[in-house]
Amino acid sequence: MAPHSVETGPIPAHVAVIMDGNGRWAEARGLSRSEGHRAGLKATRRAVEFFANRGVRALTLFAFSSENWQRPRAEVEALLDLFVTAIEEELPELRQKGIRLRFIGAREQFPRELQSRMGEAEAQTAANDTMTLVVALGYGGRWDILQAARRWIRQSTGTDPDPEAFEAFLSTAGLPELDLLIRTGGEQRISNFLLWQAAYAELCFLDALWPETGEAELQGALDIYSRRQRRFGLTSERRGAAHA
Ligand code: FPP
Repeated sequence: MAPHSVETGPIPAHVAVIMDGNGRWAEARGLSRSEGHRAGLKATRRAVEFFANRGVRALTLFAFSSENWQRPRAEVEALLDLFVTAIEEELPELRQKGIRLRFIGAREQFPRELQSRMGEAEAQTAANDTMTLVVALGYGGRWDILQAARRWIRQSTGTDPDPEAFEAFLSTAGLPELDLLIRTGGEQRISNFLLWQAAYAELCFLDALWPETGEAELQGALDIYSRRQRRFGLTSERRGAAHA
């Protein structure tokens, strides 16, 4: 049986978050955008703990999009440094909590040091099974569909792929189906995140900027999800109904 929270009801198996609003949060306080991203990292820590405690099986975070390379060089460099530090600092806690770390995106575009940290962190947490934390770096939904199509064509034996067979080539292969996609920061867009995977996901847009997002806001998103679940009927039947 799927886990339930005390307040709400069914807990989504797979939650994704577009963590938007770091820059605006910083600018409103006269801080640099990089300081906004550092505050964003603290909110990320809270979110990982929150969803792991609620029994969510997979949490996918949009940390750096394919388009983010076009930001000012200083901001990109500060973000890359932040990712290296974050992996180093968070790894012991993730290991202790039994959380598996996985990175999706065009990782060959990143500096070698970051690439090797990603690989090491994945290897060191590969046996963990409390929750899978998926960090999307250099990720784009169109990139994902294209790389899957390319690999499928290379490996295909001339048979048409059905959706399940095709999904095995997406970067999210093996994760539970995406149930809930949250975006903070007030915008109501998917911004080239999990385009294929969000096909049947519930979408939840929060006004809070990412650095100010905490337990209350995240619980609010779970409550919204829970109410929508009730409207659509039983969770286990949702998928069948959605495809009907
Ligand atoms: C979007 O806010 C945020 C980002 C592009 C960076 C997100 C990164 C973190 C929160 C650090 C987390 C790190 C790990 C390793 C998961 P924005 O800059 O677009 O904000 P704005 O819309 O207010 O300008």
